[in-house]
Amino acid sequence: MTVTLKLICVLLLFCFTALSSAAKPNIIFILADDYGFNDIGYHGSEIKTPNLDKLAQTGVRLENYYVQPICTPTRSQLMSGRYQIHTGLQHSIIHPRQPHGLPLENPTMADKMREAGYSTHMVGKWHLGFYKKEYFASYLVGAEDYFTHYRCEEKACGYDLRDNLQPVNYTGTYSAFLFAQRAQKIIHEHESTKFQSVHAPLEVPEQYMKPYQHIKNTMRRKYAGMVSAMDEAIGNITETLKEAGMWNNTILFFSTDNGGQVHAGGNNYPLRGWKGSLWEGGMHGVGFVHSELLPNKGTVNTQLIHVSDWFPTIVGLAGGTPNGTLPLDGFDQWSTISQTSSVSPRTTLLHNIDPLSPLKGNKMFNNTFDTRVRAALRYGDWKIITGDPGNGSWVPPPTSSQGTRIDPSYTKDTKNVWLFNIAKDPNEHQDLSDSMPDLVVKMLGMLDQFNKTAVPCVFPPEDPKSDPKYHGGYWGPWE
Ligand SMILES: *[C@@H]1O[C@H](CO)[C@@H](O)[C@H](O)[C@H]1NC(C)=O
Ligand SMILES: *[C@@H]1O[C@H](CO)[C@@H](O)[C@H](O)[C@H]1NC(C)=O
Ligand SMILES: *[C@@H]1O[C@H](CO)[C@@H](O)[C@H](O)[C@H]1NC(C)=O
Ligand SMILES: *[C@@H]1O[C@H](CO)[C@@H](O)[C@H](O)[C@H]1NC(C)=O
Ligand SMILES: *[C@@H]1O[C@H](CO)[C@@H](O)[C@H](O)[C@H]1NC(C)=O
Ligand SMILES: *[C@@H]1O[C@H](CO)[C@@H](O)[C@H](O)[C@H]1NC(C)=O
Ligand SMILES: *[C@@H]1O[C@H](CO)[C@@H](O)[C@H](O)[C@H]1NC(C)=O
Repeated sequence: MTVTLKLICVLLLFCFTALSSAAKPNIIFILADDYGFNDIGYHGSEIKTPNLDKLAQTGVRLENYYVQPICTPTRSQLMSGRYQIHTGLQHSIIHPRQPHGLPLENPTMADKMREAGYSTHMVGKWHLGFYKKEYFASYLVGAEDYFTHYRCEEKACGYDLRDNLQPVNYTGTYSAFLFAQRAQKIIHEHESTKFQSVHAPLEVPEQYMKPYQHIKNTMRRKYAGMVSAMDEAIGNITETLKEAGMWNNTILFFSTDNGGQVHAGGNNYPLRGWKGSLWEGGMHGVGFVHSELLPNKGTVNTQLIHVSDWFPTIVGLAGGTPNGTLPLDGFDQWSTISQTSSVSPRTTLLHNIDPLSPLKGNKMFNNTFDTRVRAALRYGDWKIITGDPGNGSWVPPPTSSQGTRIDPSYTKDTKNVWLFNIAKDPNEHQDLSDSMPDLVVKMLGMLDQFNKTAVPCVFPPEDPKSDPKYHGGYWGPWE
């Protein structure tokens, strides 16, 4: 993978949904962008996150929590409650010039919240397609330069920030401030919100890097500053909720969208691999829930929970119904989270099956799942990976005295099946695929069953009509 600081998604997407009536809880969902497992204070990071740590310590920390390895897939599952094999988004991300999006027959979480009487708002990065006007509603959307909100995709350049459908120019305002201010404004107006912020390129006002002068690696230092700005923004938003008298009736969800990008300052150590891979470093996510309404504050939850679970969980909290949705892959996890003895209804987790990634090695069997295809599945404590999962090296942060441990199998061009017991071996050191062939066959059969339910993968070519030069210098809908 080429290292470009420009379009790597780095930090935060904020969502926030709330209600005007007093009985139901306000819901805030904060989705941080490219926030690594080893980038939060409570995981032992050298990056300071006092606001996040406090919210997590007095909430429920999720330590067996999974997202998808890259942006669009996580966002699509959060918003639809459905796996990528069921939305056609199995491969890569949605690129700005592709006439593509989360298929509109999938009601989003926001649609279901509004049905349940909530007002909904989103601030920040959307990344689920924008080629049609239907994709814009109550959003301040962008995925661009932090100060100018300008973005180039190959030779097509334009501003990438809109307030609903209206293009807006906030040149000079740092994203974390912009999005925090917007969220605070919405809270003051007693409405509700969703909200994003810091996403690569690595940029941050100088003052946030001051505490990190000891970090010699420039990317890590900048990234640390960005995390501090995000942490401060989140502190400000919680303060505003308190001032508005809404805090004791708010449920705040915090999640990363994928693993940290080790080539852009992020880190997932001791997990293996990073953003974009099917190793734990790509998907084992940072996440917690905080609310004064939780009876089990200060606990750590080790039940299997996935980003697709937020749709039924949050719609359930809102008193909504999954009526009218296509079959969901997520589970309502509210009792798992709020009742300490409760067990997750989720026993399997399809990480993905990507039919468009290049094949690797040889087919192991002719009558089951094709092991050349890039895929991964979790079944209880077990995880199987097939095809080419991406670079699985163990990369410590640049401040560490430990060196990178190179993935021994990545360069072997025929190896294409791995099996791990994630409960016993969360960092994927012991590949058990040779010693447990029966389990491998069983899990390939499960992948085969999932594959039978998959819809065709959609990945259209780029459309020249998308160029901002045809749309007043702004990225926006063109169909
Ligand atoms: C946006 O604002 C900046 C600074 O005020 C200005 O230089 C730039 O021309 C504006 N761009 C557009 C497209 O309005
Ligand atoms: C947080 O609020 C303080 C005090 O109003 C302000 O100085 C700071 O810029 C805000 N930070 C962010 C990231 O919004
Ligand atoms: C939240 O606080 C307000 C004001 O202090 C109080 O009126 C309300 O009953 C509280 N709500 C809950 C759910 O505790
Ligand atoms: C869900 O749909 C069913 C069947 O259409 C209907 O009977 C039920 O009232 C709906 N529930 C809600 C809460 O809308
Ligand atoms: C799969 O089928 C092909 C073509 O019939 C055959 O050459 C190959 O040996 C078979 N592989 C296995 C693992 O049975
Ligand atoms: C998944 O199913 C499709 C359609 O039946 C099939 O063409 C493909 O080979 C299957 N993929 C794997 C990895 O087995
Ligand atoms: C895998 O990543 C490590 C750490 O960045 C790097 O040193 C190694 O060269 C990579 N391996 C391959 C085959 O790209």
